[in-house]
Amino acid sequence: FHVDWDITTAEKAGFDHFMLKEIHEQPKAYRDTMGARLNDEGTAVQLPELKLTAEQIKGISRIHIVACGTAYHAGLVGKNMIEQLARIPVETDVASEYRYRSPIITKDTLVIVVSQSGETADTLAALREAKRNGAHVLAITNVVGSSVAREADSVIVTWAGPEIAVASTKAYTSQLIAFSLFSLFLAQTLGTQTTEAITETITAMKQLPEQVESILARGDEIKAYAEEIAKHKDLFFIGRGVDYAVALEGSLKLKEISYIHSEAYPAGELKHGTLALIEEGVPVIALAVQEDLFEKTVSNVKEVKARGAHVLGLGQEGHEELPKAVDQVFSIPRTVSLLTPALSVVPLQLLAYYASLALGHDVDKPRNLAKSVTVE
Ligand code: G6P
Repeated sequence: FHVDWDITTAEKAGFDHFMLKEIHEQPKAYRDTMGARLNDEGTAVQLPELKLTAEQIKGISRIHIVACGTAYHAGLVGKNMIEQLARIPVETDVASEYRYRSPIITKDTLVIVVSQSGETADTLAALREAKRNGAHVLAITNVVGSSVAREADSVIVTWAGPEIAVASTKAYTSQLIAFSLFSLFLAQTLGTQTTEAITETITAMKQLPEQVESILARGDEIKAYAEEIAKHKDLFFIGRGVDYAVALEGSLKLKEISYIHSEAYPAGELKHGTLALIEEGVPVIALAVQEDLFEKTVSNVKEVKARGAHVLGLGQEGHEELPKAVDQVFSIPRTVSLLTPALSVVPLQLLAYYASLALGHDVDKPRNLAKSVTVE
């Protein structure tokens, strides 16, 4: 009697790939990352791991977010969250640029480094540079004992659990949750948002895990679309505001594992160059999730449709205008504006996964890429 069993199969827990397993672990990762950081009443965020006093927080004049790859994309969403909720100016940089541009770091600068592994060489070097200049460094990382966690002044751990697939999914979304918690905490401390507004966002955060589950249950819709996409050589993602930040992440996921060329563009910037590349049949994924920017994004959708693009619109449920403007729609459950990236990225992760699968690539171990880049 012989049973075929190996540790890798067991670790995949019935999923064909680590990436798919990790995509499905996101509801749990959201719950664990929020965990005890929300008070029982759901009215406030508590972050005892933050080694900053209220006085120090009030003294922060600017924030730099520094990271690489997917973590950098989380940092772009984080910038939006902090600026909207706490009204502190934020710059987000890729770590390899930050180090060499002689950034202005003072004692009242808070530097946030974001790293799943906590071992990325450029991110670690940026952290050291920030500390040398006297800034307080807050790390958002998924690995408790990592170099970044050990060297930072404060650490917010994302409780996503080990991430094996090279393409990051649950670590990214957990970073988004960490940024929402941190932004709300700043707002509480600085008094930039009312208790009602904070409670509303927390209530919406608690609904995210179930909302992700409802998106995952519709994986087949994305799979069918991915099989179409897999026939193309080029693809474009467009969006405005945080939709653009999510578009960048969707494009990166697709590049990493399907090797299909794609670009993410701020929708309003199309006419300054990229529009020249739109021709009959080119797929465009338009993120039209932000309600206040919806009309503007739809007018950009018209520009690409007029040139023959085939447009998939990603929007919030119940929007009557979007289906009229695009060829196909995928709707995500409704949530507050700043939290939409934690939902809208999920179909894009599935899209990359199924496109890679359709093309027969090694989903978990894409060519030329490593999970953690510990050399410069
Ligand atoms: C590599 C990985 C990416 C990751 C980036 C930053 O390029 O392939 O998935 O986003 O490093 O890694 P970190 O561990 O610092 O988040």
